[in-house]
Amino acid sequence: MTLRRCLPGLVVLVLAALVILAWRIVPRTALPRHPPPRDASPLMPAIATAGVAQCAGRSCHGSLEPSHDHASWRMEYSLWTVYDPHARAFDTLRSDASRRMARRLGIHDGNAHEAPQCLVCHVGPAAAAPANGVHDATMVRERTFGIACAACHGCPDRWLDAHTRDGWSAKDAAAKQREYGLTNLNDPVVLVRTCAACHLGGPPGDGAIARDVNHDLIAAGHPALEFDAVALLARLPMHAKPRPRKTVQLAQLAPVATAEVALALLQYRAGSPATPWPEFAEYRCASCHHDLVEPSRRLAAEHRRPGSMVWETRYYLGLPSLPTLAELQRTLETQTLARHEVQSRAAALAEELRPLLDRAATLR
Ligand code: HEC
Ligand code: HEC
Ligand code: HEC
Ligand code: HEC
Repeated sequence: MTLRRCLPGLVVLVLAALVILAWRIVPRTALPRHPPPRDASPLMPAIATAGVAQCAGRSCHGSLEPSHDHASWRMEYSLWTVYDPHARAFDTLRSDASRRMARRLGIHDGNAHEAPQCLVCHVGPAAAAPANGVHDATMVRERTFGIACAACHGCPDRWLDAHTRDGWSAKDAAAKQREYGLTNLNDPVVLVRTCAACHLGGPPGDGAIARDVNHDLIAAGHPALEFDAVALLARLPMHAKPRPRKTVQLAQLAPVATAEVALALLQYRAGSPATPWPEFAEYRCASCHHDLVEPSRRLAAEHRRPGSMVWETRYYLGLPSLPTLAELQRTLETQTLARHEVQSRAAALAEELRPLLDRAATLR
């Protein structure tokens, strides 16, 4: 074998060696070996809870036309963003009305859109959680979407991945709630509790602050809340495929489930040293807001003494007549109004509602 015949082969070999050497020596900073840690940059923060973007993909829930091949329309995001009043609930906090309200309440220089006591209902409890660095930056962006999927369907941390896998649709709704935390909105009691959490209010819990439109908020300009589950659901532009909704069960269970939520709010109002007491929003507005005339036809018709306050029983009208309910009303209207007494009577009534709900569970 002569050198001349080997030369081309040698040249190729030397070139290959050079290329390999260069490959190993030249720093390849542009191609990181590992993806950066998720919390490394403010542009890619650690996401504690999945945001709306995770639901809004065209092939997920953001399709522009309804799917007839899947369990759901696959365009829930598209419908929600255009038609659902909840998609604009954060914008409401930036309105002049909200600014005025916040200023009257002395919160955040009139920045209602940063006030936890407003965000807790106008975005959701997670948005009102205390600020914590990087997570907070994500939260601030997420807030602009208003009341989004997670506020009604539950925190997606545990079900987001699982609900795209095979076999998911075969699981029943109760198991999806138990094992993955996906709220079972098909259960009438769960549905009422979900809507009432914001449309009626509730005590603090699960790391969230209280949701309370009390008389302070009302006097500052907030609409007084009047919760009626069946009517409210009828007004919500629905993004789900019509499925046999348990209308009869809903109508029968809603009054008890509503009273249960109202009692939890009353117990919080009476039991927390930080809340105003007596809480005027528990009473009929006209007990106090009326013309002063003598004689008063209103007082005569209701057999009331001047200056007495009437408890607003709107949320308890659907209950059977229970002695504990009458006692609670007497305490709220005629007695000393001691916080602890109201609280314990409300707790006693809540205790009586539990078997009613359990018995009704056979309807579900
Ligand atoms: C996270 C709190 C929250 C939850 C949960 C919630 N809502 Fe709302 N809802 C609001 C707020 C706040 C508004 C007012 C939005 C605005 O105008 O800024 C609203 C407005 C509405 C409206 C339009 C106003 C009206 O009274 O007609 C309807 C209808 C409605 N909600 C129905 C429902 C139903 C049904 C559910 C349960 C499936 C529900 N909401 C759950 C907070 C909530
Ligand atoms: C307990 C939950 C809750 C809290 C807390 C709450 N809101 Fe609301 N807010 C609602 C609901 C529900 C509605 C819709 C009422 C309706 O349409 O009957 C609403 C309606 C409003 C509206 C009227 C919107 C319209 O289109 O007429 C404004 C303004 C508003 N809220 C501002 C605020 C501000 C500011 C705060 C904080 C100071 C606040 N809200 C706290 C639940 C809440
Ligand atoms: C105000 C509360 C609320 C919000 C916000 C909300 N949903 Fe819903 N969603 C419901 C209710 C109520 C149902 C009907 C549940 C039932 O009857 O079983 C439903 C049903 C669905 C269904 C059908 C579920 C099934 O089992 O058939 C899907 C899918 C869905 N929603 C996706 C979304 C997505 C995606 C978002 C966010 C863009 C969203 N929802 C926001 C209340 C809400
Ligand atoms: C126990 C008595 C009482 C009850 C019950 C009551 N309020 Fe008031 N309300 C007052 C007092 C006192 C003021 C302060 C009036 C003032 O400062 O001029 C007030 C102020 C207000 C204001 C501000 C108006 C203004 O000119 O300052 C509004 C709005 C309001 N209440 C609405 C309501 C609504 C709605 C209800 C029923 C959900 C209600 N109130 C129940 C006693 C009551």
